[in-house]
Amino acid sequence: MQGTKIQYKTYEKKDFSHLKNLNGISDKTLEIHFALYGGYVTNTNTLNEKVIELTEAGKSGTPEYAELKRRYGFEYNGKVLHEYYFGNLKSGGSDEPKESSAIGKAICDTYSSYEVWKNDFMKVGAMRGVGWAILFQDPDTKVLSNHWVTLHEEGNIAGFKPILVMDAWEHAFLLDYKPAERPKYIEAFFSNIDWAAVESRLIK
Ligand SMILES: [Fe+2]
Repeated sequence: MQGTKIQYKTYEKKDFSHLKNLNGISDKTLEIHFALYGGYVTNTNTLNEKVIELTEAGKSGTPEYAELKRRYGFEYNGKVLHEYYFGNLKSGGSDEPKESSAIGKAICDTYSSYEVWKNDFMKVGAMRGVGWAILFQDPDTKVLSNHWVTLHEEGNIAGFKPILVMDAWEHAFLLDYKPAERPKYIEAFFSNIDWAAVESRLIK
């Protein structure tokens, strides 16, 4: 079918400018972080455009095509994980969900108590290197589990749903804390969690 154009979606940068006055995460950090996130949206769109251009030109098998295709995991996940991260924060958030809430029960069902789960999540987030701490849900078993994702793409589990996402790259806290003070940032992150948003992601 000659002349057929490949369809693709151009992504828009989501607006998280309502996030202000967080506890322990400064507005300046957020402002810089929103700009970094915008870069992932732009790069995801650019990758799609370039790869489709090559595909339409019959150049799918080229090294240039392959190298661009390899970048998808980094740019797409960089975009998506930041949207989950900003989406589970709010000014006036809280450190702990209600024990009787669906998310409180789901966490306790798996980890026996909120404290055990939180300690585990915090330890994952404090792992050396840059990446993400993510509470995932297995869509088959509905069971929750904490995971480390290196960079943006290494460690994601195909099909698992991100429920709570924490950026553990240094750009997420370096204006507010020293590199060795990541645990303080993690404590601050917890105090700003929007548990209603987190709960809305649960697969029932
Ligand atoms: Fe980030």
